Amino acid sequence: MSAALSRISLSRVVVGREEERLVLEVLRSGMLAQGPMVGRLEAAFAQLTGTAHAVAVSSGTVALVAALQALGVGPGDEVVTSPLTFGATLNAILQVGATARFADVGDDLTMDPAELARALDRPVDRPVRAVLPVHLYGYPADMGAIEPLAAAAGAAVVEDAAQAVGASIDGRRAGSFGTGCFSLYATKNVTTGEGGVVTTDDAGVAARIRLLRGQGMRDRYAYEAVGHNYRMTDLQAAVGVPQLARLDRITDQRQANARFLTEGLAGLPGIVLPPSAPGREHVFHLYTIRVTSASPLERAELMAHLDRRGVESAVIYPRAVYDYPCYRDHPGVSLDPCPRAEALAGEVLSLPVRPGLTHLDLGRIVDAVAEAFSPRSFRFQPLDAAGGSSTVSRVSSASRS
Ligand SMILES: Cc1ncc(COP(=O)(O)O)c(C=O)c1O
Repeated sequence: MSAALSRISLSRVVVGREEERLVLEVLRSGMLAQGPMVGRLEAAFAQLTGTAHAVAVSSGTVALVAALQALGVGPGDEVVTSPLTFGATLNAILQVGATARFADVGDDLTMDPAELARALDRPVDRPVRAVLPVHLYGYPADMGAIEPLAAAAGAAVVEDAAQAVGASIDGRRAGSFGTGCFSLYATKNVTTGEGGVVTTDDAGVAARIRLLRGQGMRDRYAYEAVGHNYRMTDLQAAVGVPQLARLDRITDQRQANARFLTEGLAGLPGIVLPPSAPGREHVFHLYTIRVTSASPLERAELMAHLDRRGVESAVIYPRAVYDYPCYRDHPGVSLDPCPRAEALAGEVLSLPVRPGLTHLDLGRIVDAVAEAFSPRSFRFQPLDAAGGSSTVSRVSSASRS
């Protein structure tokens, strides 16, 4: 017997009863703006990352801006970051008036410490005030090597941990190596719809972010700094608090799904599976393979095939972040070419790994990829000529040739 198969999406927001209960509690409290629920979220975040302080803000982008501002990074300063990231990372650096320089990525798609050393080891025209690695797809950058390089250069470490809540490096959580910046956007491993958190052990940095967050006031109308409204609402925090409490389970599911995919996809020609290195815990915000030039199939062909089989995939990110006219022409962007990031951006392809995927879903993903490489081993037959929905006859990937 066959069953109609639904489309397997890359991300899906999962909220439970506890989120509903807490949101209702906030609604009934009449205290909708920043209040005690934000305090609860902050305490849970500090506990998770093992940092002394966590400050909730309105988005991950704002977390980056506030972190840089609180560290005093501004015009005349340079920030070295990764070229393989979301525009928010670069936007934040430019927003505070600093100049961005890039240290190319390694094969693991995160900042290569050797490239960072190269970027730091040059005649100083502008001081490098911060090093801003990105924990891409949930895989933490090599902080064991990056942290001492930044320290030796006298630069602060700001981690873009937007995609890496719960990830760790040698037992230390992402976000605890300097100033950690998290996103709680709808697709992230923990979400509040929109939201962000900054984590730090530095009481001064935390106090400064709190000040900036509330229009520069500690006491009402007693302005101490030129601030902003960076606040998160209690309604948002009410969505995040239960998810943080469930984070271990969320991460376990993502990692188990990733293991399934890795076992199923191993050995396909020209396909490179997500990186793993001792001590670096991947939390699989995304499961991203690389379709290299050794693959008999183009990435676009694989994507089209997956689409026909009802499996969503996405290229995250299609180009090095500086490789757009608005950044190339920007005086705040220092254009040292990053050939690895540019090449890898042409190879990456993210597959669904989110919690809630069943073994049937995961089997369909594996089989759809495998089938693209060996068309005679089709296992999922289209119901209609248009190929909209499909039937499944076998779900095991064991019969893949
Ligand atoms: C790597 C990275 N940095 C920063 C951000 C910005 O976070 P937000 O969308 O919450 O502003 C994101 C979010 O997508 C991200 O993926």
